[in-house]
Amino acid sequence: MKTRSILILCAIVTFGFNVSGTETSCENCHISLKEQLSRPVIQWRASVHRQAGISCTDCHGGDPAAEKTNAAHNREKGWIGKPGPIRIVKLCGNCHADEPFMKKYNPNARTDQLRNYLTSNHGINIIKKKDGRAATCVSCHGAHDILKAMNPRSHVYPAKVVETCAKCHGNKKLMAVFGISGNEVTEYKKSVHANALYKKHDLSAPTCNDCHGNHGAAPPGAKSVEKVCGTCHVMNRKLFDESPHKAWDEMGLKGCVECHGNHAILHPTDAMLSKKGGICLNCHEPGEEAFKTMENMYQSLTQIKRKLNKSEKLVTTASEKGMLMDDAMLTLQDAKTKYILSRTAVHKFDGNYVEKAVKNVQNDVKKVHKIAKESLTEVEKRRTGFYRFSGFILILLILLWLKIRSMER
Ligand code: HEC
Ligand code: HEC
Ligand code: HEC
Ligand code: HEC
Ligand code: HEC
Ligand code: HEC
Ligand code: HEC
Ligand code: HEC
Ligand code: HEC
Repeated sequence: MKTRSILILCAIVTFGFNVSGTETSCENCHISLKEQLSRPVIQWRASVHRQAGISCTDCHGGDPAAEKTNAAHNREKGWIGKPGPIRIVKLCGNCHADEPFMKKYNPNARTDQLRNYLTSNHGINIIKKKDGRAATCVSCHGAHDILKAMNPRSHVYPAKVVETCAKCHGNKKLMAVFGISGNEVTEYKKSVHANALYKKHDLSAPTCNDCHGNHGAAPPGAKSVEKVCGTCHVMNRKLFDESPHKAWDEMGLKGCVECHGNHAILHPTDAMLSKKGGICLNCHEPGEEAFKTMENMYQSLTQIKRKLNKSEKLVTTASEKGMLMDDAMLTLQDAKTKYILSRTAVHKFDGNYVEKAVKNVQNDVKKVHKIAKESLTEVEKRRTGFYRFSGFILILLILLWLKIRSMER
């Protein structure tokens, strides 16, 4: 019985180690070496490549059957040792660009990484300029600890990619060499987008590669900047395209980022439309049509916000006083959604258009206000009713007490 269990255990262990074929001398020797030389084995064993049967020799060459170091590291058997930047790009890129090969492993595999990478400033730096300081495939993916991109532990997983870019883009000294400010990471971390990604765990919020592309990491030009925001903020983009500002394209202005910035995008407020330091003043002056539009929008939006807040307070008060406010709360929710739409409406840069959107909010706010007021009047009524009733009982009790006393006497 005991020997059978041991045999089964041995079979499991052997099978477990053999998912990717027979063990190589590379693994056997390297696992016993000091950290820097054994870490590749440990990392590779947990990687997507090991799972797919891609082994040490597929990347490094050499003889996986030879027991001695020199024989294993044999240049005649294709040994390349530790590849440099240009070699890395060709090594990873060519395999991943081989469509028939990749589709054998995954019918949906993309094979455009190398092509896109070569168009990026990273690719140009490594391959054309032969500078070597920009990112190669392994700067972003790792060399041995490569996982599926959607694995939460992968270096390119949405919540982790910022740290991956930060290795270089957080290094101001390095970035200054290339005329890049190097504050992209710290700025991004202040943004509503980072807040949504890290605090609300909202994976639909953009991180570095959503705006810059995974492999074509060139900064978007004037046109694509607006396009990249518009892929998610569809309505804002549509209105912007219908607005007088559509002329910006030809003028070389940058669309959304002129007003919102690119990395430190903050929660927009009515202050952006204010006469005191508002965003429109960057390009428009008092007296212009645009200035009037700005003032109108500011009026409409600040007023409706005040009214919305007031109604919400009334609803809360009524609810605290025990009134059932479900209907009012639903309408209030509608009003809030419509209020966001009225802020979106700003992007048409047309005062009347915003006013129309604000009217929609106003109708709901009026309804909420009415229900809340009625409920509070009802509370008042019930309260006076209660006082009257209590007063009546009190008088009765006093009379009763007087009666008892007179009877006792
Ligand atoms: C008997 C032990 C042994 C075997 C077998 C072995 N290596 Fe090594 N390997 C070493 C030692 C020791 C070093 C560090 C000294 C050196 O570079 O020669 C090293 C270094 C390396 C390096 C780093 C080279 C550099 O330039 O920094 C790579 C890559 C490597 N081995 C890959 C392999 C691969 C792939 C195989 C299998 C084909 C393999 N090794 C087989 C012992 C071994
Ligand atoms: C998918 C390709 C790939 C596979 C598979 C792979 N390596 Fe590597 N390895 C690389 C690359 C690329 C580098 C250079 C990394 C760098 O420059 O940061 C490297 C570096 C190394 C180094 C040098 C480490 C150092 O810090 O100097 C060793 C040793 C090594 N690999 C051993 C192995 C062994 C052993 C295996 C198999 C268990 C293996 N590699 C599998 C791509 C691979
Ligand atoms: C600047 C960083 C960076 C560089 C350089 C880079 N990648 Fe990527 N890679 C990413 C990101 C980010 C993703 C996507 C993560 C996601 O889908 O959310 C990705 C995804 C991938 C995928 C998964 C399939 C896909 O296309 O979405 C493969 C395969 C891949 N990269 C291979 C490569 C190869 C090969 C190279 C070198 C030619 C390379 N990468 C260079 C950042 C990089
Ligand atoms: C010998 C061919 C080969 C080489 C060389 C190679 N890969 Fe792969 N790679 C594969 C295969 C096969 C898969 C598994 C594909 C799958 O299952 O979707 C894979 C998977 C990946 C994935 C995960 C893809 C995903 O869908 O998320 C990434 C990222 C990746 N490789 C990056 C690299 C990098 C970086 C290098 C260079 C250090 C490299 N590869 C070298 C063949 C290769
Ligand atoms: C290994 C360091 C390194 C890593 C990691 C890295 N970059 Fe870069 N990146 C550079 C260098 C260096 C340049 C400048 C290249 C040049 O101009 O020759 C650059 C250029 C860029 C540019 C072009 C900027 C311009 O105006 O020229 C963008 C955009 C960019 N990187 C985005 C990213 C993103 C996004 C990531 C992470 C997914 C990332 N980088 C990861 C080093 C890196
Ligand atoms: C919401 C979209 C968005 C996100 C997220 C984003 N960027 Fe950008 N980034 C842009 C735009 C747009 C530009 C170009 C701005 C311009 O032309 O004025 C840019 C420019 C750059 C540049 C060139 C700046 C320079 O000084 O020349 C680099 C480098 C860069 N981004 C890196 C990053 C890194 C790293 C991250 C992640 C921390 C990141 N970006 C996140 C939209 C984004
Ligand atoms: C990948 C999708 C995506 C891209 C690309 C994107 N955003 Fe966003 N953005 C979001 C999400 C999701 C939120 C909501 C965050 C939250 O819920 O707090 C958001 C929030 C915002 C907000 C704050 C809204 C508010 O009421 O507080 C502004 C402003 C904004 N984005 C502007 C931009 C600009 C400008 C760009 C282009 C440079 C851009 N976004 C690119 C998805 C995106
Ligand atoms: C001329 C300046 C300007 C431009 C250009 C601009 N916005 Fe806005 N944006 C504003 C103002 C002002 C507000 C805030 C209105 C308020 O809260 O009173 C705002 C609010 C927003 C909001 C929050 C309200 C909402 O819709 O949820 C988002 C998101 C947004 N903008 C995205 C964009 C995108 C995407 C673009 C490009 C297509 C863009 N903006 C272009 C001025 C601008
Ligand atoms: C980056 C500069 C810039 C900013 C910021 C800007 N505008 Fe404009 N605006 C323009 C340009 C350029 C035109 C086109 C002028 C022309 O066609 O003569 C324009 C045209 C207009 C027009 C059409 C009427 C006219 O005067 O031609 C209105 C309305 C307008 N803007 C409103 C606004 C409002 C409201 C804001 C603030 C939320 C704003 N703009 C912010 C540059 C800007």
